[in-house]
This record gives sequence, structure tokens and C-alpha cells, in this order.
Amino acid sequence: MTDDSKRPPRRHRRPLQAAFAVLLAAGAVIAIPQLADAATTLQSLARAKGKTVGFALTSSYLNEPAYRNIADTEFNLVVAENAMKWSETEPSRNQFTYAAGDAVADYAASGGKQLYGHALVWHQQYPGWVDGISGGTDLLAAMKNHIANVAGHYAGEVVAWDVVNEAFEDNGSRRQSIFQTRIGDSYIEEAFKAARAADPAAKLCINDYSTDAINAKSTAIYNLVRDFTSRGVPIDCVGFQAHLILGQVPSDLQANLRRFADLGVDVRITELDVRLQTPADASELATQRSDYQKVFTACANVTRCTGVTVWGITDKYSWVPDVFPGYGAALMWDENYAKKPAYDGAAAGFGGTVTTPTPTTTTGSPSPNPTTPGPGGGCAVSYGVNQWNTGFTANVTVRNTGSGAVDGWTLRWSYTGGQTVTQSWSSSVTQSGTAVTATNAAWNASIPAGGSTSFGFNGTHSGSNPAPAAFTLNGAACSMAQG
Ligand code: G3I
Repeated sequence: MTDDSKRPPRRHRRPLQAAFAVLLAAGAVIAIPQLADAATTLQSLARAKGKTVGFALTSSYLNEPAYRNIADTEFNLVVAENAMKWSETEPSRNQFTYAAGDAVADYAASGGKQLYGHALVWHQQYPGWVDGISGGTDLLAAMKNHIANVAGHYAGEVVAWDVVNEAFEDNGSRRQSIFQTRIGDSYIEEAFKAARAADPAAKLCINDYSTDAINAKSTAIYNLVRDFTSRGVPIDCVGFQAHLILGQVPSDLQANLRRFADLGVDVRITELDVRLQTPADASELATQRSDYQKVFTACANVTRCTGVTVWGITDKYSWVPDVFPGYGAALMWDENYAKKPAYDGAAAGFGGTVTTPTPTTTTGSPSPNPTTPGPGGGCAVSYGVNQWNTGFTANVTVRNTGSGAVDGWTLRWSYTGGQTVTQSWSSSVTQSGTAVTATNAAWNASIPAGGSTSFGFNGTHSGSNPAPAAFTLNGAACSMAQG
């Protein structure tokens, strides 16, 4: 065992409360969170709902000011993308190295962010020496020792651990990992018991991918949770990774979260990203926006959903293109740290309003709309709503049927049924009496000939909610397409 592993848990070395007391004495502790809350951020929206919004951190990226700024301001939870995994923390048997993990923990503590632990037992990113263990008894001892040390080291700092990661196959059977084949079915509960002993305060989670829908795999985990709770085996939470494909957010995501919550455990979206075939076009980014909103909304609507964590900040550093060549653009900030529409979707899902930035090349006023639809211009608008008693969500698609590109657009229509627009995304929608005006966001200003863009908004109505009779695009009348 290294000297480091013999040191007491980090909480005894530098208690969080003591760290805050120091900050308070320095007059800083109030200022830092207030800065973050001054504008609407994802973390201020999350906090208002009693939830967290987290991101997977690789500490070296913090050297980039843009990365650092987003990390500091937008999130109130941090998880190590790789630094707390078995291969990183115990590269040789019983030799523990915590420098990389500690950097993540220190970053979380310094910013008053929650720290989430990932992952104690996983069939990937474990060290080679584990493969050399032949007997189940010895492997079980090694696994318990690993958990005792790592969970013990971060005790008092992590709010929750992914104790076991990706233990099931899509058909609901146990993954035939080294832990399963050599130790047997009991390895999962042994891991949870060891984690509870090492850190009684941390919530203990089982985490997996492709479990976002109600399916064989998520049902296998559901049955495991039910079994553990009935037998008194510790388990507190279930993580749903949500590594999703564009346009494929399961329609039963919320129902799935709720059925687990009804078992009495917390649930969390742990590794959200939405990949697409690159390069992304405006319509795909709009779909991605909607996908992010659906996931955040599902969490917002389930009380025991403790939050949403995204698996990285910027497309520049996402794991996706390495594993799925040709795919990427899965996160909320692009390679240049520009906010994507997905950010608006996340914010809207947590109850926020649209924050799509105006172009940085202008003086800060909304994007100008000087051009008309292209030469021989024409446009077609499809308008669809989902409505309930007194509210509705509208989705509008504008197609440029002219022969030239539209560069900056304004769509106008009238509401004659007493409707009021309350919140929009992917465009800025304003209303004066019955007259409604939607102008492009920075990223969807250009609509090529034959191309289209979509935006949406929420509104209220007073019982009747008739569709607008006509739309104009940059002053030209549009035809009505099928809604
Ligand atoms: O650190 C080495 C570096 O020294 C070496 O030069 C380089 C060459 O390939 O590899 C580096 O290690 C890489 C490591 O990330 C750190 O960047 C590994 O090759 C690479 O495989 C590893 O990928 C990580 C992956 O887990 C491992 O399976 C991704 O960053 C990480 O985002 C990903 O995260 C997982 C979650 O833990 C569990 N759920 C799925 C998710 C996505 O796969």
C-alpha cells in the first residue's frame, strides 16, 4: 500500500465545512455563487428546482479559459470523466494514485459544486493486473479492497457513487464481465456493501446505458433494485446514462424514471449526450435542442430525479467521434465553445427562458433581417400545436421555396383567438396585441433555397386556439404546408 493510501479520508484532511469557513472569512463565499446566479444559467435553473446539473470533467481542459468559464458558471455538479476509474486509481495492485481524481474533487470543492463518483466497478478501464487474478475469491478480495480504499479516500466529498457500471446486456442478462464470470451474481451486492462500509453517507448507484426506455435491460435493473431493497442490500439510486442518438429520446423516458422512483430510489441522468452524423445542419441542431429539452423535462417532472449530467462540455473533446466515426456534435457547446440550440433545450426543460446569444459580430442587437426571401422568393409554413386546457406548445417549420438563400428572417402572423406567447426557442418571438413576430436566432439565420428551419414556443389560450390564417416571411406571403 502506498503512503497515500494510508492517509486518512480527505474529509479529515480538509473538511468541506472548514474550506467554506475559510472562504467566508475571506468574504468570498457569497460572491462566487452570486456571480453564477447573476444571469440565468443551467445551475441557477437546476438549483431553483432543487436539482443538479453536472458535467464530466477532464481537469487539464480547465486551462482553456472558455472551458473554465462554462464549467465555473453553468454547472453545480462535477464528475470525473476518467480520473476516478479503477485503472487511474489503482494501476498496480494495492498502489493507489489519487492525484487526477483529487484534482477533480478539489475543483468541485473550490466552486461549491457537488462531486459525483464514477465508477468503482466497471468491465472497462480497469487495470491489467485484474485480468491476472484467476480465482473468484481473490478477485472479490481485490474488488472489495479497491472499493474500500477509493470510496474511503473520497468519503465525505462525493454525494454519490456509480458503484457498479454497465453490468447488464441489452437482453437483460448479466454481462459476462470478469467480475460476473469469476465471482458470480453476488459481485454486485458485494460491491454495494463494500461501498456502504467505506462511505456510509454517499448515495450508492447502479449505472447503465440503453436503459432510458422501459426495456429488457432497464427492467433487469428494476428487478435488481427491488430485490436489493427487499433483502436490505444497500442501493440508493439508479443512473441512466442517456448516450442518445438524434431524434431518439425514448417516449417513455419519464415513465421509466418514475417507475424506479416509485421503488424508493433516486434516479439521475448521468452521461447525457445526443450524437448525430456530422456535420450538423440547422434542422438537426433544432432536433437536438428538442431532444435535450425532452431529457431535462423528464427529470424536472420526476421529484426523485436528482439531476442531469452531461458527458462533457464541448464537442471538441467528446468521446463520441472516437467510438462512433462520423458521429459527434453531441454536446451543448460546439468545438469553438459557441452555445448550441441544445443549451436552450436544456434550459427550457428546467424551466428557463431562451438564452440563444445574439451574434458576437453585431452590436448585441438581434440579428438584422434585411433580406427578403431569395429571388423569386417563396415560403411554406407548417404550424402544429399540442394543447391542453389553457396552454399549448407550437412547432413551426419555415421552408424557403424560393430559388435563393434567405439570410436573416422575420416571420409574422396574427393570433385571433386570444393566444399569448410565453416562451420561445430557436427564435425570438414577440407579440403586440394580436400581431406576432418571430425572428431568427443567430445559428438559423440562413435558410438555403429548398431548406427549412424550425422553431417553437409555448403559449396560453382561452379555450379556443385557432391556427393562424396566414404567415409572411420577410414581408412575402407564405403558403401553408401540412402541419
Ligand atoms: O490517457 C491515455 C493517453 O495517455 C493515451 O495517449 C491515449 C491514446 O489513446 O489514451 C488515453 O486514454 C484514453 C482515456 O479515455 C483518457 O482520454 C483512452 O484511450 C480512452 O479509451 C478513454 O476513453 C474514455 C472511455 O470512457 C473509456 O471507455 C472516455 O474518455 C470516456 O468519456 C468514456 O466514458 C464512458 C463512461 O465512463 C461510462 N459510460 C460510457 C462513457 C462513454 O464511453
